[in-house]
Amino acid sequence: MDHLLKLGDLTEEEIVQILDLADQLKYEKKNGIPHKHLADKTLGMIFRKSSTRTRVSFEVGMYDLGGSALFLSSNDLQIGRGEDTQDTIRVLSRYLDGIMIRTFDQEEVEMMAEYGSIPIINGLTDYAHPCQVLADLMTIRERKGTLKGLKMAFVGDGNNMANSLIVGAIKTGMSFAIACPEEYKPDCEIMNWAQNNGDFLCTTSVDEAVKDADVIYTDVWASMGQENERAIRKAAFKYYCVDGHACSLAKPDVMVLHCLPAHKGEEITADVFEAHASEIFDEAENRLHAQKAVMVLLMKKEK
Ligand code: CP
Ligand code: NVA
Repeated sequence: MDHLLKLGDLTEEEIVQILDLADQLKYEKKNGIPHKHLADKTLGMIFRKSSTRTRVSFEVGMYDLGGSALFLSSNDLQIGRGEDTQDTIRVLSRYLDGIMIRTFDQEEVEMMAEYGSIPIINGLTDYAHPCQVLADLMTIRERKGTLKGLKMAFVGDGNNMANSLIVGAIKTGMSFAIACPEEYKPDCEIMNWAQNNGDFLCTTSVDEAVKDADVIYTDVWASMGQENERAIRKAAFKYYCVDGHACSLAKPDVMVLHCLPAHKGEEITADVFEAHASEIFDEAENRLHAQKAVMVLLMKKEK
């Protein structure tokens, strides 16, 4: 593993290796056991979109690992004024030991990996959010003891979260059902892959998707960059809400997860959110541990 660009690039074994190391790093952090695997290493964090969790967890993660992190807003970099991504990454490769980038186009992340000579981590694109899904899988495994054989249901937009969850769930032996409006399906190639490699369903019916689910997942109706579609999306997703009725159709011990930020009263009701707050905030915490595992595996390598 040289980069984390999307989960489709990883084998099941590599995903499990990340989750195992994440569990170990979480244990070490909770018990005050030092784990400074990246002493003297520096991560650059480029943001073309806003962030709370990704920014803070990567920065704290590097600190925990003995290294440091630089917050680089694209507004303050020359790429914000049009400097080529190819040139930017060739320069940054001379200063840094790794890059985490949050941007719009998946292509930009892939191009950084192609032109740079340091590990690139995808901190969210319009296409994928692999770091979030590693934390999600970690949280599910922590609570359920296993991933294999569990059913995950996703309610809402076939967006970056849905794309990455499909791949992460199917690769680790879960079944996956998504309920979304006809015009808001996940990436076509990812759905084809899922159909050929596991138990996958895409339906317009929330009831059908959540039936007997072990995990229900949802995300905002309008993602970053889709702010001007908010009204039209609000109408299209009106019935795609994780509420008490949806939860009643799932397994009695269903987990409800949300990558956050949440729009309560839209994709999830406030009462369902609060009833499942302990797993949702464990999930947010696990971003830290899962990303530390990714950074150790990518950046500890001798160059
Ligand atoms: N879930 C997530 O990535 O949160 P941020 O947008 O706050 O980083
Ligand atoms: N789908 C959301 C995820 C935020 C973590 C977005 O891209 O804005």
